[in-house]
Amino acid sequence: MFKVLVVDDDSDLRLSVASALSEGNYSVDQASNGEEAVNRVRAGRYNLVLLDVNMPQMTGLEALREIKAHDPSIIVIVLTAFSNVRDAVDATRNGAYNYLEKPIKADNLVYMVDKALKAHNMVRSVSLAAPVFRLQNGQDFVGQSNEMKRIFSVIDKLSQVETAVLIRGESGTGKELVAQALHFNSPRKDNRFVTVNCSAIPENLIESEFFGHEKGAFTGADQRKIGKFQYADGGTLFLDEIGDISAAMQVKLLRALQTKRFTPVGANREIEVDVRIVAATNRNLEEMIRTGHFREDLFYRLNVLPILLPPLRQRKNDIEHLVRHFIEKFNQQHGKNISGVSEAAMDLIVSHSWPGNIRELENVIEHAFVIESRDEIQSSSLPASVSGSHGEDADGVTEAGLEDADGILPESLEGAPLSIETGFRLDINHLDFQANKEEFERQFLISALKAFNGRINQTAMHANIPKKTLLRKLEKYGIRAREYSRQD
Ligand SMILES: Nc1ncnc2c1ncn2[C@@H]1O[C@H](COP(=O)(O)OP(=O)(O)OP(=O)(O)O)[C@@H](O)[C@H]1O
Ligand SMILES: [Mg+2]
Repeated sequence: MFKVLVVDDDSDLRLSVASALSEGNYSVDQASNGEEAVNRVRAGRYNLVLLDVNMPQMTGLEALREIKAHDPSIIVIVLTAFSNVRDAVDATRNGAYNYLEKPIKADNLVYMVDKALKAHNMVRSVSLAAPVFRLQNGQDFVGQSNEMKRIFSVIDKLSQVETAVLIRGESGTGKELVAQALHFNSPRKDNRFVTVNCSAIPENLIESEFFGHEKGAFTGADQRKIGKFQYADGGTLFLDEIGDISAAMQVKLLRALQTKRFTPVGANREIEVDVRIVAATNRNLEEMIRTGHFREDLFYRLNVLPILLPPLRQRKNDIEHLVRHFIEKFNQQHGKNISGVSEAAMDLIVSHSWPGNIRELENVIEHAFVIESRDEIQSSSLPASVSGSHGEDADGVTEAGLEDADGILPESLEGAPLSIETGFRLDINHLDFQANKEEFERQFLISALKAFNGRINQTAMHANIPKKTLLRKLEKYGIRAREYSRQD
């Protein structure tokens, strides 16, 4: 049961709002002015407040401020006369969820209240269920899968020791974020976190980048320069893309790691530093050792405490939460008020394989964010790589009548026909490309379904087409998968 407070000086309006909401899962209280509203909110836990903007004494905007100050999670929907829409827009900038124009239509009211509470409930359950690491630099590290919970606890432990850590994982899995989390949770957090991107520095400059140089050490060295090792003294040095450093640098780096000492280029004395080393790579270092491209001794020096970040496709539990996290982030950045993602869009997002991992997810959400005109991200706003739709809209697809009982595991092709007749014939008198493409698609789908016994998952997998897209296409062509299952 959600607790709703209706605030308006017009008692008829309060009654009609209360009666419109009486059929839902709400308990509705009333207040006739801003002050009473604020007192009630302070005294009891409300989920949502419907607030008139134009009231005598305390205005709606003032009440809004007080309510939000008391509990920022309370949803406030502003009620406004048409002539006051400006105030309502102001209110949404100050934390109101949305506004409703008077006279209030019961349908609109119920719809908006339902939706607001649904979105809100999601945020709440997510924030209760999911641990979030807030780094001191303001970054949030999000994850609720068992894999990520385990990594959070590893980070907790490893941040308290001085030993080198090697973070491994595919591109975009959050390796740099882990490195930051290690630093900002460690006793070194008030000193610097310094990143060296080993793959981005030209070979002739890398030694100076690491260790610094004296004035005149080489052509162009017109000033003395402090290297990253020294700059990170007392803090953490993050060696990103460590798999990309040259053989010559590997030797020098190993020596610096072993002795905590190094000699700047062109200098004749050693410098001693106190740095904690965290390294990261997405390369297969064991294979590089085997082929002679990475030193085994350096590997063991760095790999004392390894952290392996699983790819996003192996922790799909995190996707919904990450999506919410990025939506909140972009709402702030772009000054929008997107409430979430449609169910169909979320299905597509969850079933995508995310080869670019979290970075790809973040980019996809930002892309959708920028082009979405509604207040919820729809499938049509997702890039084609995720929706598989190449511009078509997947919302509203139902699976009714298309249920498939097969498992998710791939089935071998053993026993399947070697080739499939599609029955597609090109009529020389009807060469229209679009019409033929559709006919080909239809025949293709029927033939593929026949080959896989009418099973949706198998067909989708072997044809390399997202299941949702397949279902949508079957619906478009009126194909019933069930009709192609052999009863053997
Ligand atoms: N668990 C997470 N919670 C929130 N944001 C995340 C999470 N993991 C990654 N990100 C975000 O995804 C993006 C990619 O992360 P990061 O740069 O740490 O990946 P990486 O593994 O270092 O990638 P690469 O190998 O390509 O350098 C960043 O913007 C980061 O903030
Ligand atoms: Mg990185």
